[in-house]
Amino acid sequence: MDAGIVGCGFISGIHVNAWKDAGISVSAVCDLNEKTAMQFAEEWRIPSYYTSFSEMLKEEDLFAVSVCVPPKFHANIALEALEADCNLVVEKPFTLTTDEAENVLDALQRSSGKLTIIHSQLFEHSIFRAMKRVKAGDIGRVIGMDVGILHSNDETMAADKNHWCHRLAGGRFGETLPHPVYLLRAFLGKLEVKSVLADKLGPHPWMPFDELRVFLEAEGKKFGTIHISFNAPGQNKTDVHVNIYGTGGTMHAGIYPISSLMVSKPGRGIMNFANMAHQVKIWAAYLGNIIAKGTGPRNYSISHARIIRSFVQSLNGNGQPLVTPENGLENVQVVEQICEQIEETRTSKN
Ligand SMILES: NC(=O)c1ccc[n+]([C@@H]2O[C@H](COP(=O)([O-])OP(=O)(O)OC[C@H]3O[C@@H](n4cnc5c(N)ncnc54)[C@H](O)[C@@H]3O)[C@@H](O)[C@H]2O)c1
Repeated sequence: MDAGIVGCGFISGIHVNAWKDAGISVSAVCDLNEKTAMQFAEEWRIPSYYTSFSEMLKEEDLFAVSVCVPPKFHANIALEALEADCNLVVEKPFTLTTDEAENVLDALQRSSGKLTIIHSQLFEHSIFRAMKRVKAGDIGRVIGMDVGILHSNDETMAADKNHWCHRLAGGRFGETLPHPVYLLRAFLGKLEVKSVLADKLGPHPWMPFDELRVFLEAEGKKFGTIHISFNAPGQNKTDVHVNIYGTGGTMHAGIYPISSLMVSKPGRGIMNFANMAHQVKIWAAYLGNIIAKGTGPRNYSISHARIIRSFVQSLNGNGQPLVTPENGLENVQVVEQICEQIEETRTSKN
């Protein structure tokens, strides 16, 4: 039972290690660029490489494929793989549009293949723990949540004017938005987009907007906000964090650069034992992964490993995967609405 990977770019090595974690080896990879495919296969000791996905599917007996190509190819690759009854792990965003996502869900009905999507930040140490604590009632009933994603303007994708992300609906935001949307969905419930504000502060002429605020409402009058900025101070800086507001306290979770969790409650000071225990447990898990895997976050992501492991378990008849195709569809619907409003703002500005 081997897996294949289509797209040998930034995220693909993390998939090799995640499959390995689930007891499955990657035996073939594919990239439109032959040199990229060959070098990746060499670096990761993968026996075969291809430049055509159709050929890889035909030649190899693959149990599953990871889709790690730019988003505009996700739907077509997924449809072709499902037609061949192959199982799929699709990177976020699941697809670019709701229509594409619905087509893939229809194809799933006709195929014996199954599918999961990488909603990675939900299963990163601090958020995984925050979810457990919320479910245990630590902050009472959840009533709101903010997600902040702050990058300095030299961020790799943003700073490269030829990067595919700038051609997505919503531009650079279109690539990032799935993350805050699935985070809010998981803690707040089904989301409705209330308003979208986009602005430009930074230097890149190819980015019409580099600041984004989104206001969302969830069932039961719960409110969510997203703030994405490509104007954070410093060089090569990224900060991703969430605040989750409950009737009995607030959770502050850091995702990047440091996984962290703090719970503020009335009367609770910063030197609180429960907060120290959260931190010790999160860092112990983080360091434990680095030691056990012999590699750091550039090549190993606990969240990818958790999602792919749960997918393999579900294929073996053990429960549902952590991320279902329906979760992917809902995510695409909300991201698409936000990106449409960004595009409307762009049109009215011109
Ligand atoms: N979960 C996360 O945290 C995370 C992080 C980064 C990227 N991603 C997602 O992973 C996907 C890939 O992103 P990336 O940064 O690795 O991209 P990338 O540009 O670094 O790599 C993509 C590779 O796919 C190849 N390719 C393009 N079209 C192809 C096709 N039709 N068939 C075969 N190969 C093709 C390109 O030549 C390139 O080598 C995107 O959907 C992105 O949003 C997710």
